[in-house]
Amino acid sequence: MQFVLNSPLDMHLHLRDGEMLKNIAKFSAKEFAGSLIMPNLVPPVTNINSLLSYKKRILEAVGDEKFTPYMSLFFKSNYTADFLENAKSHITAIKLYPNGVTTNSEGGVEQIDIKKLSPIFEAMSELDIPLCVHGETNGFVMDREKEFCAVYKQLAVAFPKLTIIMEHITTRESAEILKRYENLYATITLHHLLITLDDVAGGLLNPHLFCKPIAKRHEDKEALLELALNADKKVMFGSDSAPHPVSKKECCGCAAGIFSAPIALSVLAELFDKHNKLTNLQTFVSNNARDIYKLIPIEKKIILEKKEWKVPENFYGVVPMFAGQSLKWRVKS
Ligand code: NCD
Ligand code: ZN
Repeated sequence: MQFVLNSPLDMHLHLRDGEMLKNIAKFSAKEFAGSLIMPNLVPPVTNINSLLSYKKRILEAVGDEKFTPYMSLFFKSNYTADFLENAKSHITAIKLYPNGVTTNSEGGVEQIDIKKLSPIFEAMSELDIPLCVHGETNGFVMDREKEFCAVYKQLAVAFPKLTIIMEHITTRESAEILKRYENLYATITLHHLLITLDDVAGGLLNPHLFCKPIAKRHEDKEALLELALNADKKVMFGSDSAPHPVSKKECCGCAAGIFSAPIALSVLAELFDKHNKLTNLQTFVSNNARDIYKLIPIEKKIILEKKEWKVPENFYGVVPMFAGQSLKWRVKS
């Protein structure tokens, strides 16, 4: 059995830099037509020079694969309307991180003061630059995203022309507010469609499933599945594939981030197939992103076939999600 996807897109991807970038970029570049590249390097990507040189390094790492890196800037509260106007043609989005809530988010926004930041959000609305948000507070770990919903609501109402993307949603509450506000959209990861907190910490601790936002309850996962499997217009695929060397995962003080790039499409096919929803995968993994971001991706046909394969234990010192396990579908090379 085979299945063709036209220009799949991964709208939330961490490619890192240096050796890691060189090693891992191909896993996404082989299977996707393009990805929204996250700017949380150290230091973060906050100006056009560093963004363009990062894009160049990504394209070098990608080599001959047909793949578009859609670039994003790391939100800073001192961005001016002039700066944004200049940036517009080089970027697809701006990513806002509350300071310190996740890996490499130092230098993010200390306090989301809507009034103080309104000149930036107004300019982004005018220029039609989407705002991507890591929506977590510093509260109790299971409630961080739920608490942040108040900020999403305020933003959605105060800036009705601003496209706001709730990144990697994990809760029922997020699924609900998404439907209530016209200008709210969301990415959903692969792992949040598959795991709950039980898989991370219910038995022996699994560092390779530890990420931010942490996987939540069964009913939260069900709410996300409902959106993704039905390819709801408000959601699109964003893997949040975030590689860390094994030494940073299997240690005390494990880094947050799941490396799913090498298995993303295979596992999505398996999941959608299992629920008899394969015909919706194209919309979830490409068409919705085109509509939300107004993108025309490069032409790229990806053939998925129902053929078992075993996920390697390790890629260049990074342990992928489902390492050593058998998957039912694979991308035909
Ligand atoms: C991401 C990373 O490692 O850069 N980690 C994660 O747990 N998802 C950052 C992020 O998207 O929060
Ligand atoms: Zn991320």
